[in-house]
Amino acid sequence: MKISGERLLADLNQLKRFTDTPGKGVTRFSYGENDEKARQYLRETAESCGFSVRTDPVGNMVIGLPGSGDQAEIIRIGSHIDTVRNGGWLDGIYGVVSGLEVLRTLAENGNGRASDVEVVIFAEEEGSNFGSTMTGSKFAAGVYGESDLDRLKDEEGRTLREILRQCGYSPYRKEEVIWDFSRVKAMLEIHIEQGPVLEQEGNSIGIVDAIFGMTTVEVTITGTGNHAGATPMRYRRDAMAAAAQCITEVERIARKDPDGIAVATVGKAAVLPNCSNVIPEKVIFTVEVREKRKERIDQVISEIEEAITQICTQRGTACEIRKLAESRPYRMDERLIKLMSGLASEAGFGYQIMDSGAVHDTCVIAPHAPSGMLFVPSKGGRSHVPYEDTDPDDLLRGAQLLLDTVLAL
Ligand code: GLV
Ligand code: MN
Ligand code: MN
Repeated sequence: MKISGERLLADLNQLKRFTDTPGKGVTRFSYGENDEKARQYLRETAESCGFSVRTDPVGNMVIGLPGSGDQAEIIRIGSHIDTVRNGGWLDGIYGVVSGLEVLRTLAENGNGRASDVEVVIFAEEEGSNFGSTMTGSKFAAGVYGESDLDRLKDEEGRTLREILRQCGYSPYRKEEVIWDFSRVKAMLEIHIEQGPVLEQEGNSIGIVDAIFGMTTVEVTITGTGNHAGATPMRYRRDAMAAAAQCITEVERIARKDPDGIAVATVGKAAVLPNCSNVIPEKVIFTVEVREKRKERIDQVISEIEEAITQICTQRGTACEIRKLAESRPYRMDERLIKLMSGLASEAGFGYQIMDSGAVHDTCVIAPHAPSGMLFVPSKGGRSHVPYEDTDPDDLLRGAQLLLDTVLAL
């Protein structure tokens, strides 16, 4: 049985139009206007194939044949459709569209497996609104509960609960949000690699072993705002200069990781008041650390926190550090890794077993249901930027292997 490559590529090309930043990559935050347009497109496409679509109170969407919700055993295939700011056209949505293509191919071939497959679209995977990645899957797995609807706030201070209400989602009911994992036979996700390994090593398929864990903290450094001309250097407590030193230290600590696995990033910063002639009073920045062992993440984070505290004490600036989010590292299911490896080799696809430095919704599901992930190469190893791309042949090979996996389960 073969997927339709033409249909898969046509869907992806249609969906990339739904962006807040045309010409500057894809910006599609969950719960925004373009997220709704993409959902509408997927809903209409699914319904035109005779599938039904349901959306839970936090915005996770499930597509399946009518009655799939009552099956004793289901295979869920999914990913996300939200993006980072000025991100790429494939991150997440490739997994959703491939899932839909698999379901469509099964159904049109009259294959009985079609009634056991559901395609999932997890909400707010990127954490673009609330700084917490894999939000929808964390709700589905019960890692987040109702109180998190009030804890998670966007940059304007709006809570997730308020946003969900504004979008017209039904009030939170845990029975409708948390999955019944006893029914989930497998969770599968296909994704672009987002790094250089497959391309460098000349393989067209990656089969994921471990997914890195990550911890994100927010650091607020407060100095004394003052006139940038009238305040001699010796009388300053400059929050920006302190932050710069801290950020360099974050990089130094990660670079000296003896195993060369840990990564640390300061990807977001705000300066207040952000005027060229005012000594910065406040700088707020995030630090995220990733590794495949939880204890190493904790060690690196505490080393960073210590260094930041020491720098701020020496400079006489105040500092506050708070945890924004964390996820554990996870291993994918051994049996699925073996199955996918066998199928890739049968199909003649060059493949390798590899770790994922990026986090994915499937790692939140992995402790509860057998989970497997496939990667396809990213051109130039680039992702989370507008240049993100993958050779169409690789996109099709990946989706075909996903279908083969579903058939072999
Ligand atoms: C999600 O894309 C992440 O790994 O940050
Ligand atoms: Mn991403
Ligand atoms: Mn992704």
